[in-house]
Amino acid sequence: MAKKLHIVGFSGSLRKESYNSALLRAAQELMPDDAELEIISIADIPFFNEDVEKDGMPAPVQAFRDTLQAADAILIAMPEYNYSMPGVLKNALDWASRPDANKVMPVSDKPFSVIGASSGAYGTARGQHHLRQTSVNMNMHPLTKPEVMVTFADKKIVDGKLTDEPTRNVLKDHLEALITWTRRLQK
Ligand code: FNR
Repeated sequence: MAKKLHIVGFSGSLRKESYNSALLRAAQELMPDDAELEIISIADIPFFNEDVEKDGMPAPVQAFRDTLQAADAILIAMPEYNYSMPGVLKNALDWASRPDANKVMPVSDKPFSVIGASSGAYGTARGQHHLRQTSVNMNMHPLTKPEVMVTFADKKIVDGKLTDEPTRNVLKDHLEALITWTRRLQK
């Protein structure tokens, strides 16, 4: 049997009742048996500053980078803010994109996928495409389909749980596709 994949996921929302964090928990629950999802937080990551970086990566940044580096793939659940990604998410990715003294770039050459939930009618579509654009310069490898863009999240995520069956099914398909994509890139 193929090695169990270790996927690392984080939410681009710091909100306690976040729909995106709930979506990520649903992904953990629905993950097929040949992979596991470790959920981490980006809440402690400071603002990026090249002066700080020159003195060495702050501890929460180093921990974030090390976890991403060890992952087989990355799963990002993101809200859309003003048609783009939230600043906290971009900030975390900026830290992760940097080469360290040993030229280690934790997200370079990594397969990843993005999912998102919004209270509106577009389900983070515009924000997700900004993240995909950014991923080009970070040399990440995005999964293309199936997309998970959860519209009217307040109707589909109730008490922190993804209850909408069609959305659960597409999320499951997405996770299966991410596993296939990751294994293809590892060949
Ligand atoms: C939003 N929201 C939002 N929604 C959307 O579909 N497109 C958008 O461009 C925006 N822009 C936006 C900007 C800012 C600053 C905030 C705070 C919110 C609404 C957003 O989808 C909603 O707040 C979600 O609930 C955020 O995701 P979490 O925190 O529930 O994961």
